[in-house]
Amino acid sequence: MSCLTSLFSLSSPSFCSPLTFLHICCVLLPEEQRNKLTGGASCFMDEEAEGARHAQVTEQHADPETMLLSFLREKMRLTGTKSGCGGGGCGACTVMVSRYQPATKTIIHFSANACLLPICQLHGAAVTTVEGIGSTKTRIHPVQERIAKAHGSQCGFCTPGMVMAMYTLLRNKPQPNMEDIQEALAGNLCRCTGYRPIVDGCRTFCEETNCCKANGSGNGCLNGGSHTDEPERELPQLFDKDEFVQLDPTQELIFPPELLLMAERETPQTLSFHGERMSWISPVSLQELVQLKTRNPKAPLVMGNTNIGPDIKFKGVLHPLIISPFRVKELFGVTHTPKGVWVGAGCSLAEVRSLMEKLAAQFPQEKTELFRALIQQLGNLGSVQIRNVASLGGQIISAYPNSDLNPVLAAGKCKVSVISEGGRREVPLDQDFFVGFCKTVLKPEEIIVSVFIPFTRKGELVRVFRQAPRKETSFATVTSGMRVFFCEGSRVVQDVSVYYGGMGATTVSAAKTCAAIVSRPWDDETLSRAYDVLLDELVLPPSAPGGKVEFRRSLTLSFLFKFNLEVLQKLRETKVITDEPPARMKIQPLPREIQPGLQEFQHVSSDQSEQDPVGRPIMHRSALSQATGEAVYCDDMPPIDGELFLSLVTSARAHAKITGIDASEALKLPGVVDVITAKDIPGKKVRASFGYDEDVLAQSEVSCVGQMVCAVVADTREHAKRGAYAVKISYEDLPDPIFTIEEAVEKASYFEPRRKIWRGDVTEAFKTVDHVHEGRIKLGGQEHFYMETQSMLAIPVGEETEFNLYVSTQWPTLTQDAVAETLGIPANRVTCHVKRMGGAFGGKVTKTSILASITAVAAWKTNRAVRCVLERGDDMLITGARHPVQATYKVGFMNDGRILAADFEYFTNAGNTIDESVLVAEKILLHLDNAYDIPNLRGRSAACRTHLPSNTAFRGFGVPQSLLVVENMVNDVAMKLGRPAHQIREINMYRGPSVTHYNFAFSAENLLRCWDECKAKAEFDARRRAADHFNQQNRWRKRGMSIIPIKYGIAFAESFLNQAAALVHIYKDGSVLVTHGGTEMGQGIHTKMQQVASRELNIPPSKIYISETSTNTVPNTCPSAASFGTDANGMAVQNACQILHQRLKPIREKNPKGPWEKWINDAFFEKISLSATGFYRGHDLYMDWEKMEGQPYAYYTFGACCSEVELDCLSGDYRTLRTDLVVDIGRSVNPSVDIGQIEGAFIQGLGLYTMEELKFSPSGLLYTRGPSQYKIPAVCDVPLHFNIYLLPDSHNPHAIYSSKGIGEPTLFLGSSVFFAIKDAVAAARSESGLVGPFTLNSPATPEKACLACALPLTQKVPVSKPGSFKPWALDI
Ligand SMILES: Cc1cc2nc3c(=O)[nH]c(=O)nc-3n(C[C@H](O)[C@H](O)[C@H](O)COP(=O)(O)OP(=O)(O)OC[C@H]3O[C@@H](n4cnc5c(N)ncnc54)[C@H](O)[C@@H]3O)c2cc1C
Ligand code: FES
Ligand code: FES
Repeated sequence: MSCLTSLFSLSSPSFCSPLTFLHICCVLLPEEQRNKLTGGASCFMDEEAEGARHAQVTEQHADPETMLLSFLREKMRLTGTKSGCGGGGCGACTVMVSRYQPATKTIIHFSANACLLPICQLHGAAVTTVEGIGSTKTRIHPVQERIAKAHGSQCGFCTPGMVMAMYTLLRNKPQPNMEDIQEALAGNLCRCTGYRPIVDGCRTFCEETNCCKANGSGNGCLNGGSHTDEPERELPQLFDKDEFVQLDPTQELIFPPELLLMAERETPQTLSFHGERMSWISPVSLQELVQLKTRNPKAPLVMGNTNIGPDIKFKGVLHPLIISPFRVKELFGVTHTPKGVWVGAGCSLAEVRSLMEKLAAQFPQEKTELFRALIQQLGNLGSVQIRNVASLGGQIISAYPNSDLNPVLAAGKCKVSVISEGGRREVPLDQDFFVGFCKTVLKPEEIIVSVFIPFTRKGELVRVFRQAPRKETSFATVTSGMRVFFCEGSRVVQDVSVYYGGMGATTVSAAKTCAAIVSRPWDDETLSRAYDVLLDELVLPPSAPGGKVEFRRSLTLSFLFKFNLEVLQKLRETKVITDEPPARMKIQPLPREIQPGLQEFQHVSSDQSEQDPVGRPIMHRSALSQATGEAVYCDDMPPIDGELFLSLVTSARAHAKITGIDASEALKLPGVVDVITAKDIPGKKVRASFGYDEDVLAQSEVSCVGQMVCAVVADTREHAKRGAYAVKISYEDLPDPIFTIEEAVEKASYFEPRRKIWRGDVTEAFKTVDHVHEGRIKLGGQEHFYMETQSMLAIPVGEETEFNLYVSTQWPTLTQDAVAETLGIPANRVTCHVKRMGGAFGGKVTKTSILASITAVAAWKTNRAVRCVLERGDDMLITGARHPVQATYKVGFMNDGRILAADFEYFTNAGNTIDESVLVAEKILLHLDNAYDIPNLRGRSAACRTHLPSNTAFRGFGVPQSLLVVENMVNDVAMKLGRPAHQIREINMYRGPSVTHYNFAFSAENLLRCWDECKAKAEFDARRRAADHFNQQNRWRKRGMSIIPIKYGIAFAESFLNQAAALVHIYKDGSVLVTHGGTEMGQGIHTKMQQVASRELNIPPSKIYISETSTNTVPNTCPSAASFGTDANGMAVQNACQILHQRLKPIREKNPKGPWEKWINDAFFEKISLSATGFYRGHDLYMDWEKMEGQPYAYYTFGACCSEVELDCLSGDYRTLRTDLVVDIGRSVNPSVDIGQIEGAFIQGLGLYTMEELKFSPSGLLYTRGPSQYKIPAVCDVPLHFNIYLLPDSHNPHAIYSSKGIGEPTLFLGSSVFFAIKDAVAAARSESGLVGPFTLNSPATPEKACLACALPLTQKVPVSKPGSFKPWALDI
């Protein structure tokens, strides 16, 4: 088997010689390229080793600042490993590292984040990248095959990381169980798929199945029967697992023998490496380590680099010297004593966990209480990739305020053994150890050698509790370790310790609380006093960093309360107390295992030709290339000779005059070539929209933090970044920046036009109804978090002002126009190429065009190719998000539930420029009815102009915000009437032929069919009863259910945007090249276009290729947006293919048997044109805002979704137990692609409504600039049962092959989880005597859900009066 393992063997012959030898095994690179990479140094091929070809490369200069990720991508040109965040938070860069351990003669394999792995740390390790395990040119690996064929790859940017996480698991455990798989994938984010297909693909490796027809083939035990016209046929499957290649562990790559021999034979020597700014020393003996640390007390010891790495990268910290104790054996020893175990401080957290598991199995339970608490906490800390490298000593010394281990180590009375030139000493890990923010009592020169973890005694109990913004792979909001010790047979407390993380600058002890408990019996009286003491003891100021003050304080009480329940249970088990607790007071962990889902769709008709792919679940056409890392994204393109990199300098002020830009220091830095300001723009310096101008680069004034002011171009990314840091901008602040919607409304700061719409007479109707209710709801914004950040490469062709732009954009024509205008050249000189995007979701339209314009100006000025790839933090800071919305409503309704009047007012926070905000505000009004026929309706909406980064399009374009408001209003009506919400929904739903508030006629038949089918499939009535029963049985756990409908308009109300064109060439060999105006961002448009061309030309899809979207093949394209891409481009491709088919008619008639290749050859010789353009004019849609009527949509996509959650009221944690989603998408062109869109959008909606929070500082700076602070859903958030049903027997005359657009609609259905949480909260509130409507703003995070439950315990926490303090974050 061929392989592409990268072997690293970094060594230097002597302490001061910085020579580095680097061995790399690769097959993809041609010889001359490898030589180029090595700088002409030695290179050899070893054909023998397991058939693989190993190239050994000698690296002369290993820079300590170089991480494996950039080394692989930039130096080795192995671009399969992706960069999604650079800080260990997304998993896109996952690789497998293998090491040989001479002491045990074993080889270990572990997954790691290449973005945090310094290459200097990789001495003697073998690194396997995604290219190494399989290739489409040779043989793909079963993991790659299964993820691809199970439809687990959409945009594909996350796929190599997923593949490597799973591959590493299989290397260690060829037959994993579901828990293993969920854990292995927990640190890998995907923004497209919703994870279900990835999990199902990986599930096929499990030995056991947990469903009658599991293993990802769908149609498991939940299957409720078929809706096909031909009931005797088997239900169609999304993939056939029988065609998968078997996993054969004996075929895997072996550990490179060179490294094994090296490890066995070489006497370890000190290594040293020197880079541009940093040196690295890696000693081999403890003595040498101590000497080094004594001489260089400020130099950090880098182990896992998970603390130091992000500090260097994101905070600009510079360490001139780094000491790596990685090869000092004493730091890795494990010593057993009768009292416990000494664990080497260098051991990784994963190793510590395995050790604890081993010991917990070996010793009696009473001795291993602490070990088991550590196992639990280690299972929740970071991701597998982080735990594989992060060290125990590093975790302790980092002394994070919310460290997960430190509270439990402290509560468990652990201690550390430290060494320095002064000798060894033992220091207890207690309240005196953690002295401040990231500070401990240890002296800078002291090194932790090992950590003592004691056995527990009989009568001792240790527990951990933790709550985090996301269930997994997330730093905790509050975390704690608690221990209590009772004398045998007694409930009197001998000793107790309680530590918290997340409650101050460092790990804190609740010493006073412990004092209130010790020597007393563990009973209600003691505990009740303890809660009060705790409340007084752990006080946070209202503006404490991190915010969530009330919640954090509540959690401290909740955790102690949970501990109380566990202690009482233990006392019962040991017969110290005998009372039986009421069953409803028990707490169980939330369920977590994802079950096989069900995906139900229709068969194609039995008379459809086998070759015709339309309607079949065809795999995404690039899935295999994506899974093997071969798929090329913008930043994977090889560098152009002389290429420069661009880094942006952004405003640090929200509203200020620019008084100066001083680039002198930047220009002195190595590699910096130029600094680009607005003055350098040769053409238009502004982009105009709706009569407002937006500066391409700020000219004289800035209006938000993060506005682009200038750009630095340099020879490398690092140099450009350092240059950007060095540019100094001086400002003169302008008064009164506006951040929040309230401030904007108060100051009437709006972008015009504001819109309104009404039908009927709302004012009169309010007079006639039985009840009038007023409510309000706020929705936060949402970051796109496409996995591939904004990326572009501008290349001046060199003559006649011609430019080529390779850019990740949804709208190539907009980028072309913007670049041409900015450069002052005609559009025909600018060609935009889009091969694919690593996700976009609306965020790669307007913002990309401005970024591309700046990049093009730099290329113009320097006359060199310029690349710009935003770092995650800059991307989040600069490019805006979904619009936050604040809405108020007044609703009039009758006793029987009929809503007769509703009046809505919406304000969006548009940010500092208009972008598409007015269109978003319009769309909000068009959807304010959702599925309800309300006779008297009124809506007003306004886009507020604020001093925050400008918000932009995001999947759904205002609709998800609008629909949440109306559904919340319907919920309020139900609560007011004390009736189930689904009944009020049914009473008010459109029925039969209907007309909307903008006078658009449609049939609601399929809306009702979806609703009824969803209720039936979800077994709504029975499960509702079961949930109510559960709620009666449980005080601290509540279940909630909701069922939500959707009516979603498809196409652009701006008529001209509905057109599309295509260009189809047939080459002489019969192969076909299709180009169309749509761009591929993971939604599978190219796959669908291939299917269309295949049907129309009557040839297999394999003869059809789609290379890219480009403005020189199909001009004047429309954006791939509004769920209309397939509808429009499909028609254009169909048109072009039909023209060609028609032209070939005489040839076919002459020779009816063909084959195709012969027809094409004959056609060529008969001089028939084999190239055709296709065009689709699109629907003539419009919206007349003066008359308040129109036909803004081609048709509606309908759906309904039922979700059930279980909520832990004490912490706000919840699980989505089950989701059943029915959607009417007509006749699907490709059910697997469409189901992928449905699931992906649903999970993105779940993120919007329940998790994702953008936080801004009081001065307008976005805090949440990466996956560590901003949590998008991960594998742990997938509903445990996730069932999708495509409504059968639905047809749509308005789109290609009777299909319907589906990219956006189901995002809103994620709100079914929001309303299920709200339902669960209502159940908890009712036990506190609170009934009727209550406010729960979106997202319904654990914080909001927990506080809304209003439990007596959390009600104890005093609430600071709004306005009496400056909150840590703005409520925008
Ligand atoms: C994406 C991500 C998610 C994370 N999630 C969590 C989480 O959920 N919960 C949590 O608690 N933590 C979390 N962490 C933090 C992580 O656990 C710590 O960064 C890690 O434990 C530090 O260990 P390290 O070996 O990587 O330290 P390094 O970065 O290598 O070093 C950190 C510091 O420790 C010092 N040091 C290291 N070893 C010794 C020693 N033997 N003696 C003296 N000083 C030493 C170094 O000088 C340095 O100052 C996360 C980190 C990342 C990047
Ligand atoms: S790029 Fe490494 S984890 Fe995100
Ligand atoms: S397929 Fe996972 S991020 Fe796009």
